[in-house]
Amino acid sequence: PPFDPDLDAQQVDEAVAAIRARTDLRPDIVLVLGSGLGALADEVEDAVVISTADVPHYPQSTVEGHAGQLVLGHLAGRPVLVVQGRVHLYEGHAPRDLGFPVRLAHALGAGGLLLTNAAGGINPAFGPGTLMLISDHLNLAFASPLGGAVARGETRFPDLSDPYSEAWREQARALALRERVAFREGVYVWVSGPSYETPAEIRFYAGAGADAVGMSTVPEAVQAAALGLPVLGISTITNPAAGLQDAPLNHEEVLEVGRQVRDRLATWVRAIVAETTLP
Ligand code: 6GU
Repeated sequence: PPFDPDLDAQQVDEAVAAIRARTDLRPDIVLVLGSGLGALADEVEDAVVISTADVPHYPQSTVEGHAGQLVLGHLAGRPVLVVQGRVHLYEGHAPRDLGFPVRLAHALGAGGLLLTNAAGGINPAFGPGTLMLISDHLNLAFASPLGGAVARGETRFPDLSDPYSEAWREQARALALRERVAFREGVYVWVSGPSYETPAEIRFYAGAGADAVGMSTVPEAVQAAALGLPVLGISTITNPAAGLQDAPLNHEEVLEVGRQVRDRLATWVRAIVAETTLP
């Protein structure tokens, strides 16, 4: 059926109504948690936890065995919505559906979007355990959540000259320095997956300026841009991308890296949530 902007808006409103039936909290920042950041959701105070299965029109995960969750409450003193129900292109979702959580966040009154993900390292200096502040992206999945008629609140041709707000990043950098959280900054390339890349593809992306590769985040950033929501993105480099791996890490090292990254990322995200001013 052709895209109907009125139906699209109505679906978001029905999702908002289902959430409003449970809480009147107005989230200021929406956090989308990638792999390994789940612990932050447990820190949300006065948490109202809503299964995405109970939110009308929320795209349901087709791969993982359980539905996602929305957690509304306070983190570091600030009202937040934590999204643990990210949807990916590789699950078979239509591109438009990838933007649904962001449209929902916007309709709930959010003023900023903090996106996290796990990614493969392309830049050889970005080894496992690196936290990468996303400076820009390459959309090599060639998909967009914005196709079709112009939807409510969206612009037809959104500007993407500052997709990961420089003003917000500046504050995030200062907080990382203060909290002694080491980080790099770089370009994230979005690919559709679900297969990982070939070595030739990784060489191609490296030549194109990518520092990390993954299967999420970009559609959400594009949806946010269309709605005028500022975005901050942080990748956790979990492994070298294809063709870059020399010796495989042993499992214990991987677990140790994961634990350290989680703590550093949580420290950084907590500080960002507590202290940044939304651009
Ligand atoms: Cl190497 N590739 C992609 N596409 N996603 C990833 C990854 C690699 N490592 C973690 N996520």
